Amino acid sequence: MVSLQENPLRVGLQQERTPDPAILVIFGASGDLTQRKLVPALYTLKQQRRLPPETTIVGFARREWSHDYFREQMREGIEQFANGLGNEELWQEFARGLYYCSGDIDRPESYQKLKAFLSELDEERRTRGNRVFYLAVSPKFFPEAIQQLGNAQMLSDPSKQRLVIEKPFGHDLRSAQALNQVVRQVCREHQVYRIDHYLGKETVQNLLVFRFANAIFEPLWNRQFVDNVQITVAETVGVEDRAGYYESSGALRDMVQNHLMQLFCLTAMEPPNALDADSIRGEKVKVVQATHLADIRNLDKCAVRGQYGAGMMRGQPVKGYRQEPGVSQESTTPTYAALKLMIDNWRWQGVPFYLRTGKRLSKKVTEIAVQFREVPVLIFQSAAQQVNPNVLALRIQPNEGISMRFEVKMPGPDLRTRSVDMDFGYGSAFGITTSDAYDRLLLDCMIGDQTLFTRADEVEAAWGMLTPVLTAWEAPTNPSTIPTYEAGTWGPAAAEALVNQDGRRWRRL
Ligand code: BG6
Repeated sequence: MVSLQENPLRVGLQQERTPDPAILVIFGASGDLTQRKLVPALYTLKQQRRLPPETTIVGFARREWSHDYFREQMREGIEQFANGLGNEELWQEFARGLYYCSGDIDRPESYQKLKAFLSELDEERRTRGNRVFYLAVSPKFFPEAIQQLGNAQMLSDPSKQRLVIEKPFGHDLRSAQALNQVVRQVCREHQVYRIDHYLGKETVQNLLVFRFANAIFEPLWNRQFVDNVQITVAETVGVEDRAGYYESSGALRDMVQNHLMQLFCLTAMEPPNALDADSIRGEKVKVVQATHLADIRNLDKCAVRGQYGAGMMRGQPVKGYRQEPGVSQESTTPTYAALKLMIDNWRWQGVPFYLRTGKRLSKKVTEIAVQFREVPVLIFQSAAQQVNPNVLALRIQPNEGISMRFEVKMPGPDLRTRSVDMDFGYGSAFGITTSDAYDRLLLDCMIGDQTLFTRADEVEAAWGMLTPVLTAWEAPTNPSTIPTYEAGTWGPAAAEALVNQDGRRWRRL
């Protein structure tokens, strides 16, 4: 396995890299994430021949499963959630590297048992003591699992052992700091991979290439030319069967602190000195530290929450949030959040960044839209139509691509203008669909490349910036005061007001 010291990490966004043989231990192996995402992603990597044949996966969970039962479960996951098994021989080879070890997350004996089993496997599978421990368990078990791994000396070799922590990393600033403290007691920062699956999305990585491999956009990327930036992560799904988690999380913790903040950072940060993990993460931290809610003393002017009520999605009636299974009828959990952020630095002073996300919105779409300033003087006063400012839209999903909107003259004797889009689509340009984020992230952590993972200070800075809203929204309140929106619409009316107060509008997507 390539350790951080050996690996200059300039590999950053390159492809065609293969990790050294290792054992990936998945905590929470009987859960959804393992079957739906992790093992299908590992299988896809296997199909792409990116994993060495010795690669071994050990599922660790409380249930008493046999190796064969675990293999069966994973086979079903791959059939359903990857591109199918493909060739049976490949599956057999993959299955030979799948094992299961039952144990309790809070019992030292379970870790001793696991440790002994991993040593046996090292002999059999020639994995040379290289380990990646992936915590795909409920966040309430993170500290316990990390502590126990530390006590069992399973993270004590920084060049061979890594720790992957799923989101959410903490519940607020204090809990994130406490969790980082636990992590620091048992391992070094370069062993830690805090997952944010948005960073594994192809088009999110493309943001770096777009900004820093093209000379023409960077000169425009500042307060002189940009009027505002809008970041939207809209979902059509509701809370699904995750009320247990979502009720104590809500849109701010579930989406804003991590995914939207990552999109925000990559859009707003300064060019890093190099394409390595610490240069990029250093720039991300700097920009978050310079960012604040637009009006901390008047939060209503810069933070809007909402909760979906019943409505129609694709012609079908759907329940409101409070009627979903497991959700309290008095719930005040926001399923929608919109924020107005400002950045105090030379590049962005005075440029608002509007962020919004919600469940049960009218469309699934993730987009970053950079809206440019209006022309200083409009000489086309007689143009029947309004001249719209230019917009550069980076579509993260679906239909990944980039479009630039500008004005043209409509054909004909009259001087009439219209907005048109110059469009780049990933699908049509490359003829392939982009791969799942987990493929990329799992490969990177096995290789030892932390570029697409969040650093301790980054997570804390994001929680810190959001603390005033978290505190305000946590205060006991009458459920009837939480703004609602009809499922299948674009969110609560107050979200419109958030941008309208500045004489702007949300983009219609
Ligand atoms: C997860 C959230 O992190 O991201 C979910 O917990 C959300 O609530 C999901 O639905 C969205 O991810 P994607 O990749 O579908 O945009």
